[in-house]
Amino acid sequence: MTQNSTAPPVTFVIFGASGDLTSRKILPALMGLAEDGHIGKDFNIIGVARTELNDKQFQQLIKKATGTKSPTFNEITGRAKYVTGEYTSDSTFNKLKEIFASYKQEPNVCYYLATIPEMFGEVALQLKNFGLSKPTGSNFIRLVIEKPFGRSFESAEKLNGSLHNAFDENQIFRIDHYMGKENVQNLLALRFANAIFEPIWNRRYVDNIQLTVAESLGVEHRGGFYESEGALRDIVQNHVMQVLSLTLMEPPAFMDADSIRNEKVKLLHSVEVMNRTEIAQNVVRGQYIAGIIDKTKAVAYRNEPGVSKSSTTETFVAMRLSVDNWRWAGVPIYVRTGKRLKCRATELALQFKRVPHMSFSQELTHDLEPDILILRIQPDEGVSVRFGVKVPGREFKLKTVSMDFNYKDEFKEQPKDAYQRLILDALLGDPTLFIRSDEVMQAWKIITPIENAFKHNIVPLTSYKSGTFGPVESDKLLAQLRHKWHLT
Ligand code: BG6
Repeated sequence: MTQNSTAPPVTFVIFGASGDLTSRKILPALMGLAEDGHIGKDFNIIGVARTELNDKQFQQLIKKATGTKSPTFNEITGRAKYVTGEYTSDSTFNKLKEIFASYKQEPNVCYYLATIPEMFGEVALQLKNFGLSKPTGSNFIRLVIEKPFGRSFESAEKLNGSLHNAFDENQIFRIDHYMGKENVQNLLALRFANAIFEPIWNRRYVDNIQLTVAESLGVEHRGGFYESEGALRDIVQNHVMQVLSLTLMEPPAFMDADSIRNEKVKLLHSVEVMNRTEIAQNVVRGQYIAGIIDKTKAVAYRNEPGVSKSSTTETFVAMRLSVDNWRWAGVPIYVRTGKRLKCRATELALQFKRVPHMSFSQELTHDLEPDILILRIQPDEGVSVRFGVKVPGREFKLKTVSMDFNYKDEFKEQPKDAYQRLILDALLGDPTLFIRSDEVMQAWKIITPIENAFKHNIVPLTSYKSGTFGPVESDKLLAQLRHKWHLT
């Protein structure tokens, strides 16, 4: 991982510049980088999109999105340029070429694809056709690409083919914003910089692992997009697989991009690819109906704008995965994610096995839960260990208590937004936290059969009330092996 944190001069070209992601995430992240001194006045922004705007209007858009107070970012904004055009048309790329030609030297370029996914391959192809995808001197050219990266193994393979036709793999930075989250990166520190966890991080001591990515929000204004996506593609294929691979992988020899990503890919290769029978037994899918969250009424998914009244898109998935390797053989790995759940919480929990022989009588231990290590990824980032202690008094009663570490109590500096961290890494050319092509393909190998099983109704669509933790079938999935979701 790079120590240097000042980016060289870069021309940052955003495709999809008038869109939601640009205003909500990319521009504020760039402003944060300017405020923290990671990018200087020599940074250029060029917006490209179909919406008709001129440079001044784009500059206004940047100001509105960022409410910029940073003098450096003000200066960058004042020079920002905008190209109106179709992503497939030659004139768009000619205009871009003209802007580059007006610079005194070949610029370092970072393209950011924030368009609709159907355009990713097209834009890459046009950049190649116009000689804009490969550096001609000592400058660099990089491509940052947003999810969704394909819709299946086949389409991701096709997309990789289109990108590789224009760019080398080491120019491509596939972003997964979960990798920019502080406590996801902390998994590396927790596991590989502490001797106390290493000996117990395996099948001998871990009984089961649970990863919950719960959102209380619904699909908001993204109903139309979400309809063709669903929770499996939206969260499991990417964010869940990323967190799992850092949790379960073997120790890398070094903390560099290749060593870490090699181990992640190796781990993904060990995740069992389920057949239809196994999928039917190990996967639950659900869709939210109306309910109440935080005392506010929430409408059913089928009544959200842009959603079909007979939609079968899943807004919830729970599953039990197996990892077929020496470390994890036989340890159930439970994951669940959903929208309109009881609260927003992303948590990883390692539940440990009970002691081999309980010497204390049952009356003394009925308040004793299994030992658990919990990593709170958001909100309230931190780590907790839950274990049993003696309750004060003559009787030898036992009770489970919690030992907590909270980022905000320990460190003055608040975690930066994930996009800010990741965009800086892309500008610095550090690919460690980005998803390599073989990683994305292996994740699709695991997910595509499940997608197909959903399509053929092998896993029935259940419903759950907004404001709960999903359908009862999700609890039943764990109950089959006498487990319980720890977060309820
Ligand atoms: C995005 C999904 O990738 O992640 C959204 O497309 C989801 O549907 C979001 O809401 C969740 O991100 P976070 O950082 O709020 O957990």
